[in-house]
Amino acid sequence: MSKNILVLPGDGIGPEIVTEAVKVMACLRDEFGLDIEMDEALVGGAAYDAAGHPLPEATLTLAREADAVLLGAVGGPKWEPLDISVRPEKGLLGLRSELGLFANLRPAILYPQLADASTLRAEVVSGLDIMIVRELTGGIYFGQPRGVRVLESGEKEGFNTLVYRESEVDRIVRVAMDIAMKRGKRLCSVDKANVLECTEMWRQVATRTAADYPEVELSHMYVDNAAMQLVRAPKQFDVMVTTNMFGDILSDCAAMLTGSIGMLPSASLDENGKGMYEPIHGSAPDIAGQGVANPLATILSVAMLLRYSLNEDALAARVEQAVEQVLDTGIRTADIYSPGTEKVSTEVMGDAVVNALRS
Ligand code: IPM
Ligand code: MG
Repeated sequence: MSKNILVLPGDGIGPEIVTEAVKVMACLRDEFGLDIEMDEALVGGAAYDAAGHPLPEATLTLAREADAVLLGAVGGPKWEPLDISVRPEKGLLGLRSELGLFANLRPAILYPQLADASTLRAEVVSGLDIMIVRELTGGIYFGQPRGVRVLESGEKEGFNTLVYRESEVDRIVRVAMDIAMKRGKRLCSVDKANVLECTEMWRQVATRTAADYPEVELSHMYVDNAAMQLVRAPKQFDVMVTTNMFGDILSDCAAMLTGSIGMLPSASLDENGKGMYEPIHGSAPDIAGQGVANPLATILSVAMLLRYSLNEDALAARVEQAVEQVLDTGIRTADIYSPGTEKVSTEVMGDAVVNALRS
């Protein structure tokens, strides 16, 4: 039976980059026998404009029914004045939480062709291959109580809650451990156990769960140090596992090691391997509509979709190879451009990947 992929372009550069990723999926369907059907729906600001909510019921229903979801990006200045409960970001957070996508995999790989695009020296980043596993449906992003209250004095007080259950820590550490087993067998758990009780517990649970994985070497690091180590000596890391918010921050940091955030895909998985796939970058409203955005993170997200939700490892590898082949030819979108390479548009980059797939 054919697999159903729900495509959610979203806002800003989302529709442009998703168009290129859809070309890649259509090519795999038409020329490589990949048995998929694609559906499209609204999310984020686009959905708010059309339906009054960033995650309309119709979109959520399609997402629940789909075998996998491919998302572009959400948000933009146009919707910033809205109440936080209906801002585009709520569409994304709602999908993550409603679909139970607790495990967010964010690989940071430096393609040798892009060593010069990193702001760090080539010897610091060359060969970089880190996997950040971010908890995605808990922590301070979802904790209650939350809000802004007015004190008796008339002053406002804002508050959010960092909360994790042992079971939530255990399951994300297991995902990270399973990944570490297939890689370099080293896992670094990142917390702030010296200050936050919640993450002190995180550390205890991580240590306990790790006992089931004797082959994996577990280490712990405070998040401030982890941020520093990521830019000082990033190659010391194999797999990292951390909370929702720390993972948000550290993955942006790791992204820049690779030259551009425009290169990094992600997978968000539930207990059964169903997933949503998206580039880790945002909607980049400053360059939206200009046809200059880098579609490679979204195309590489398709590779992750093939691998984790459709069990199509060979096709996934083929897409990744096609991206490398294209980089070898020296064409670059603006974000990864360096002198001596050729600057191209979003569309030219997407077409080049499709052509490389065919070759
Ligand atoms: C990300 C993004 C989101 C997050 C935003 C858009 C809500 O920054 O996926 O990293 O904070 O999780
Ligand atoms: Mg982020």
